[in-house]
Amino acid sequence: MLCLSSEQEPPDMQCEHLHPGRPGGSLIEDVRRGLLDSPRSIPCKYLYDEHGSKLFERICETREYYQTRTESGLLNDACTSIIETSQPEQLLELGSGNSSKIHVLLDSCRKLNLDCSYMPLDICEQAVTDACRILQHKYSWLEIRPMVGDYIHSLSSLASAPGRRLYVFLGGTIGNLEGPERQCFFAELLAAMNPGDWLLLGADREKDPTILNAAYNDSAGYTARFNLNVLNVLNRELRADFQVEQFRHQAAYNTRLKHIEIHLVSQQAQRVSLQEMKADVHLHEGEKILTEISRKFTYQGLNELLEQHQLQVAHHFQPDNQYFSLVLARYSP
Ligand code: SAH
Ligand code: AVI
Repeated sequence: MLCLSSEQEPPDMQCEHLHPGRPGGSLIEDVRRGLLDSPRSIPCKYLYDEHGSKLFERICETREYYQTRTESGLLNDACTSIIETSQPEQLLELGSGNSSKIHVLLDSCRKLNLDCSYMPLDICEQAVTDACRILQHKYSWLEIRPMVGDYIHSLSSLASAPGRRLYVFLGGTIGNLEGPERQCFFAELLAAMNPGDWLLLGADREKDPTILNAAYNDSAGYTARFNLNVLNVLNRELRADFQVEQFRHQAAYNTRLKHIEIHLVSQQAQRVSLQEMKADVHLHEGEKILTEISRKFTYQGLNELLEQHQLQVAHHFQPDNQYFSLVLARYSP
């Protein structure tokens, strides 16, 4: 990663905080609904505090986690075609994280003489500011509007500005949204989009379960640390007293439901106090807390998902091994 010395540093990025356009989504509400009831769960967005975001970057570098390098390869090959087809005036990236994949799209805009601004949106403010400082240093001409917020609850509050937008949703993050959450996400997205805007979607594909199980159980243990870190988030934000070492990471592909299920498993019977909520959680030995789902798609399933939401598929890129999809679709209501 590029390192900036203090004399070179551009002024600090001020993030715009998006306000939820629909109710729900606060930590206390989410914990009350998910953790105090069984089966127990915590929404996966809480995995991404500053430390969790850094751990995710480490996961992306592991040998087992093929997604990042596969998607980056597709982007490298397809970037010119994506930009030529969509002719964006704004790139709006959802769940932008370290924004590392946007560089090739910005380079293509530059090569094709397109004046394009960049709007990253992520739940993790630190990730957005760090990424934008690096981008601004590399692309001094680039207009950047950094945003912090939840794409499930806040997208419709995005002011629609004139100019064609390319919404970019990469990393396979669509697979982390299931059922009602995915419906809310598309409702919010379509409310923000104008006809003629584009979506570039990266999604992971169904494949041999051995490869999938390895990707979520990397031998260096980054995925386990990433998963367990959510307990530190709850300890900090809710004055809880989870003992992290009393939990174990578990990730397995559910071949019937076509998704990876990621849990934290309680290693013993234990009581955890959530002081901020004046509540206790009693866990029995072996009890699981669901922290993430990661759905795997088929080529056809992805096309259908987009078409169902009036997103007309223009290009569907995939590598020879069919491990990952990159789909460009136009909003055509
Ligand atoms: N797009 C990047 C990062 C993917 S990781 C890549 O392809 O490598 C998923 C990203 O989505 C993280 O940066 C996380 O902070 C963000 N995220 C997760 N849930 C979110 C939510 N509900 N709203 C906004 N951002 C979210
Ligand atoms: C961000 N998202 C697509 C990752 C995934 O593969 O579902 C998150 C992740 N969880 C564990 N490893 C990676």
